Amino acid sequence: MHLSWAFALQDAPNQTQMMLRSRATISLRDPAISVPRCSLGRRLMLTPTSRFSLPSFAFCTGEASDISKLALYAEKCRPGRLNMASSIPKDAIEFPDSDREFLEPHLPPIDGSNPTPDSPFVTLTFATSLDSSLALSPGAPTAISGPQSKAMTHYLRSRHDGILIGVGTAVADDPSLNCRLVGVGGYGGEGLDGQPRPIVVDPTARWNFTSNSKLFKLCREGKGRPPWVVTAVKEPPAEKVALLKEYGGKYVVMDIATLDVGEHRLNWHGLLVALKANGLNSVMIEGGGQVINSLLEPRYLQEISSIIVTIAPTWLGKGGVVVSPARRHDDTGKAIPAARLSGVKWYPFGEDVVLCAKVKL
Ligand SMILES: NC(=O)c1ccc[n+]([C@@H]2O[C@H](COP(=O)([O-])OP(=O)(O)OC[C@H]3O[C@@H](n4cnc5c(N)ncnc54)[C@H](OP(=O)(O)O)[C@@H]3O)[C@@H](O)[C@H]2O)c1
Repeated sequence: MHLSWAFALQDAPNQTQMMLRSRATISLRDPAISVPRCSLGRRLMLTPTSRFSLPSFAFCTGEASDISKLALYAEKCRPGRLNMASSIPKDAIEFPDSDREFLEPHLPPIDGSNPTPDSPFVTLTFATSLDSSLALSPGAPTAISGPQSKAMTHYLRSRHDGILIGVGTAVADDPSLNCRLVGVGGYGGEGLDGQPRPIVVDPTARWNFTSNSKLFKLCREGKGRPPWVVTAVKEPPAEKVALLKEYGGKYVVMDIATLDVGEHRLNWHGLLVALKANGLNSVMIEGGGQVINSLLEPRYLQEISSIIVTIAPTWLGKGGVVVSPARRHDDTGKAIPAARLSGVKWYPFGEDVVLCAKVKL
């Protein structure tokens, strides 16, 4: 989500006018001043009951990520009393405009258009080590990328309608799967604007989520959407169905084939079409290893609209959760590369490098 906003503060003898053209919410810590919630394009009249002075005029334009500058400015004008950004939690993340530019050609079109009308724009994105590992082992907390890349992930989340992971990640990490970018819903923005829909692929409904799972905690706090859980179980456990329903989430029941070895084989095209039919125009697929490796099978490569991979300067060593799709062979049985990228761009990003590309079909 790319929010533009501008504001003006004007001092008058007994009132301050604020005009806000963003989706930011203004609130005041000073109980002596009453302020309504303000929304896009509304002009606000703040009537203080105590005397104070602001500079006679101030004007600022910028992106939603600049909202903290607005807060700083407000703090300067009314030290300790006027807090225009008090609705922004402390863990909110900034991602500067200058870092957004290079990503734009690799993201879903901002106007919501999509060259593939029946399925969403799909971005495959993850952070990997030099030895192609996503984590030291399933569930081992593994810091791979630097702070800038992490902030980028939250920006990417704000630009997609859905964020998909496998049940392995859900079980191992108890993930938040929300967006903490300044300016999105729950972080200074309105409602749940800019918050992606979490989607968990869980063929056997083995994810034992409870109301204490982070995802639901964030729902309660108005900082994230309830999840959709994709399963092959025709009748998932009633208590889990009820919990999802209570928060506004749901199970999405699909046919998922099971191989002789017991491995589940999701038809990615079928799932993506179903997600589009459920109103998602863009989905980012974040992992983990099994999800990514299956998506990188030849028959599904065409489903991937864009690839954004952060490569961090570390080797995690053998035994990690590895991105390495199944080996391919040509008609003569000779081994060939599993997949290759085209239109490749490399962007140094802090100590990491971000690779943006498409799959070469
Ligand atoms: N570095 C990063 O950017 C990043 C991102 C995400 C996750 N991770 C890490 O990755 C690790 C988890 O990875 P993982 O490979 O163990 O788990 P995963 O890929 O998240 O989930 C694997 C499970 O999802 C289901 N699944 C996956 N692909 C499927 C398909 N094509 N069809 C049907 N079901 C499918 C299967 O469930 P069933 O076994 O029930 O059939 C499978 O066991 C965690 O440690 C997490 O922290 C890292």
